[in-house]
Amino acid sequence: MNQACYAMMVTKLGGPEVMQYAAMAMPIPKSNEVLVAQTAIGVNFVDIYLRAGQSHAHNPEPPFITGVHAVGIVQAIGSDVSEVKMGDRVTYTNAGVGTYCSHVAVASDRLVLVPSNISDERCAAGFVRAMTAQYLLKQMRPLIAGDKVLIHAAAGGTGQVLVQWAKRLGLEVFATAGSDEKIAFVKSLGADHLINYRTHDFAAEVKKITQGKGVKVVFESVGKDTFMGSLDCLEPKGLAINFGTASGQVENFALQTLHAKSLWICRPTLRTYIADKNDMQAMAIDAFEILGDPSFRLDIEAVLPLKEAAKAHTMIEGRGTKGAIVLIP
Ligand SMILES: NC(=O)c1ccc[n+]([C@@H]2O[C@H](COP(=O)([O-])OP(=O)(O)OC[C@H]3O[C@@H](n4cnc5c(N)ncnc54)[C@H](OP(=O)(O)O)[C@@H]3O)[C@@H](O)[C@H]2O)c1
Repeated sequence: MNQACYAMMVTKLGGPEVMQYAAMAMPIPKSNEVLVAQTAIGVNFVDIYLRAGQSHAHNPEPPFITGVHAVGIVQAIGSDVSEVKMGDRVTYTNAGVGTYCSHVAVASDRLVLVPSNISDERCAAGFVRAMTAQYLLKQMRPLIAGDKVLIHAAAGGTGQVLVQWAKRLGLEVFATAGSDEKIAFVKSLGADHLINYRTHDFAAEVKKITQGKGVKVVFESVGKDTFMGSLDCLEPKGLAINFGTASGQVENFALQTLHAKSLWICRPTLRTYIADKNDMQAMAIDAFEILGDPSFRLDIEAVLPLKEAAKAHTMIEGRGTKGAIVLIP
């Protein structure tokens, strides 16, 4: 195969500058793998945890390629592969390979076919977020119309999906974001109660609006800076789902804190929910139904060349983005 193949390599753990553009050998798919020529790469916050050495499960040793999600075209097929054929447009996430590159060899049972009504960029911006919102809203705690939920970082890539999907389920959505511009964006997505958590005590605001009752579930992706406040504004027997740690990890947590209101907490990851390929395919149907609806907003803050991955990370870490960022190899 006489094609250029390249990647953004994480040369050592650290800031955005540790990623360097480098040529690499074209991957050769094993019998159970396909070669994907990538067309769009989703930038997710976990890419930053990996680059900085803060991934909870296991962090690869440099040099490695960060990234967990991409879209592309099947360009070569291993001898045992039956799920896809040459030329199929596919997406994959959490497949055990870095995605900030032009080509990747991926296990075929990790691939999902992309419906024709969803563009590469929309899929790159939304697939991981929609899959995450799917399990958070539909597989963790039964939620019915009228239930009150709090969504942190609601203007972010995952936040914008969660807010809109929660509204489609009829939930009453309390949403936080870190600037007034972001608050205006989240309002336009349909959230019911907006709180700038950099200027206001969000827990006090939620308790004020709910007359002290609190919310049923908090979708807590910020971690260190918000976690205790999230517990504070839960109703008795309420659930705090800490699915991200954008501000840092929650440390030294005393279990006894849950006692007074019989609270629940959990720390899930998409990886577990899609470990079974049948579960993954079923969730993808739900996710694509949402993403395929043109009235479902999926704002993309920037589409950048792969070479500018460091700029993408700097923008997200600087809390300057609304919606998602996509890289083009
Ligand atoms: N466990 C899972 O299965 C799973 C799957 C996907 C994503 N996630 C998590 O979901 C969260 C959102 O992911 P995403 O990729 O869509 O990112 P994102 O929401 O687009 O970006 C993260 C947002 O976090 C907020 N934030 C609060 N404190 C921050 C800080 N100190 N530094 C940087 N950002 C801070 C910022 O919004 P404000 O300025 O408005 O505060 C920022 O825009 C992340 O925590 C990620 O790890 C988890």
